[in-house]
Amino acid sequence: MTELARRAAAEAAALLAEDGMRLGLGTGRTMELVLRALAGRMRGGLRFTGVATSEATAARARALGIALVAAERPCDLAIDGADEIERGSLRLIKGGGGALLREKIVAEAARRFVVVAEAGKLVDRLGEFALPVEVVPFGCAVTAARIAALGGAPVLRRCEGGPVRTDNGNLILDCPGFAPIGDPFTLERRLRAVAGVVASGLFLLPVERAIIGHGDGRVEELLP
Ligand code: 5RP
Repeated sequence: MTELARRAAAEAAALLAEDGMRLGLGTGRTMELVLRALAGRMRGGLRFTGVATSEATAARARALGIALVAAERPCDLAIDGADEIERGSLRLIKGGGGALLREKIVAEAARRFVVVAEAGKLVDRLGEFALPVEVVPFGCAVTAARIAALGGAPVLRRCEGGPVRTDNGNLILDCPGFAPIGDPFTLERRLRAVAGVVASGLFLLPVERAIIGHGDGRVEELLP
């Protein structure tokens, strides 16, 4: 059901690409499906360049024959998944895949930002998904203590080999303690005031629309 929902949303999102566009390519399972749908459209003649938001997305895009360019200029359209989407406001939590910093750089600079996800990602209030916060390794225990003092209850993200390292060489603190996030702007300001914090997974930028896939293959578009 989730796969069908993701695929339906991904295919609808790929239809937004137009000839000559510079596309911001987000990260995650849904974006993998968007990349495949874009590659299908390329076979039909569509030409575009992509800006990858992670090494994983770059590798997938290259394997599909998508031409990549550096993130040095704004994208015409950035497409990305999300871990939570707040109904109404379309504020997001992202970073489940650890690519939040590059995703945020690309999305903030893009002329248009579209989010694509299955309906299970919609929430009334952000925060049930533990908020990812990317921090520099230097002094990370001190940074974590400061985030704990804000109520975040940070947990260092680990994989089998030890702490997860982002593509930028940083660490991720997952913060379940902020739930429910009633005032995301204040939380974002407080987190950004902590020197070791590079980026939080709160995406409070304007989202043009959310393309939401349902388990029966239906696609719904939500506007903020
Ligand atoms: C990666 C992200 C992803 O967009 C988010 O985790 C959703 O991924 P998926 O489509 O696999 O559920 O923010 O940093």
